[in-house]
Amino acid sequence: MNTARDAVRIVEVGPRDGLQNEAREVPTDTKIALIQRLAACGHSEVEATSFVSPKWIPQLADAEPVMAGLVRRHGVRYPVLVPNEQGLDRAVAAGAQDIAVFTAASSAFTRKNINCDVVQSLQRIARVMDRARDHGLSVRGYVSTVLGCPYQGAVPIKDVVQVARVLHELGCREISLGDTIGVGTPHKARAMLEACASEVPMAQLAVHFHDTYGQALANVFACIEAGVRVVDASVAGLGGCPYAQGASGNLASEDLVYLLNGLGIETGVDLDALCDTARWINTELGREPVSKLARIENARRFRA
Ligand code: HMG
Ligand code: MG
Repeated sequence: MNTARDAVRIVEVGPRDGLQNEAREVPTDTKIALIQRLAACGHSEVEATSFVSPKWIPQLADAEPVMAGLVRRHGVRYPVLVPNEQGLDRAVAAGAQDIAVFTAASSAFTRKNINCDVVQSLQRIARVMDRARDHGLSVRGYVSTVLGCPYQGAVPIKDVVQVARVLHELGCREISLGDTIGVGTPHKARAMLEACASEVPMAQLAVHFHDTYGQALANVFACIEAGVRVVDASVAGLGGCPYAQGASGNLASEDLVYLLNGLGIETGVDLDALCDTARWINTELGREPVSKLARIENARRFRA
């Protein structure tokens, strides 16, 4: 009898995707503490920060001190976002070993987010990839607006597939498919994922849902049924993209872990520790919890 449990790898994006959208200033020490707490919860991948232009994302202008202050745990990846060669130089100087490049399936969005169209962004990424290879970095790729664009509206699946394929051909180890504004629903999410999987191996695809319309968990479930085994999420449901009007927070990591525990799918993440971390960061940021799990005391939580 095969007793191996099914497993999903969660990519925790709270310190980057979460904090990039925070209106109030978050102290560097709080960011470092958040990353370290998340790694201590059992996450194997915690996206730490962004080496983007501080004029565009002032919230993450302290990327260097964040990386310098980090005490890394063995076996944990700490990817950082890199938009261009200047960002790559900064990331390498800061000791990053894992980077993430990012574009979208719609030029209407990339123009707002990174000031170029999709084709130009892929050319930019190709230059970053060449140099990342020389530095021995591992590179994750993001495709945004896979189920809808705040500026263009509907996004044809073929456009998503094409961008995912190019990122794969350029050498990204994994491609995360992002529903940036959270407009997707399960059947559409699954169809988009399966179309991408016809060009990029499913094992190299991840899904990244925002919860604007409350569909993120349902979308994850549909995509897990379709075979994906890497899911992005953000502790306490923090986040959103400042250049995507109407985007709310990401899927909350603790809600995701509860779902996966219930499905008997291994994550390696301690749910109680994660809920404590969600409540802690909510307090630090002066926020009311948005995730379902962060609102429930540990002692009262139902245990299946
Ligand atoms: P630009 O203005 O076209 O860039 O921005 P530029 O090359 O003309 O440079 C302008 C100035 O920025 C120059 O400084 C550069 O030195 C500086 P100045 O001469 O004016 O003093 N600069 C930089 N400084 C530090 N680090 C850098 C850097 N690059 C340029 N790396 C650029 C183009 C791409 C830089 C800009 O648009 C940018 O940084 N955008 C980032 C936006 C962003 O971070 N958005 C959120 C992340 S994406 C996301 O959240 C979606 C995701 O979660 C998935 C999903 O949900 O869909 C991943
Ligand atoms: Mg995002």
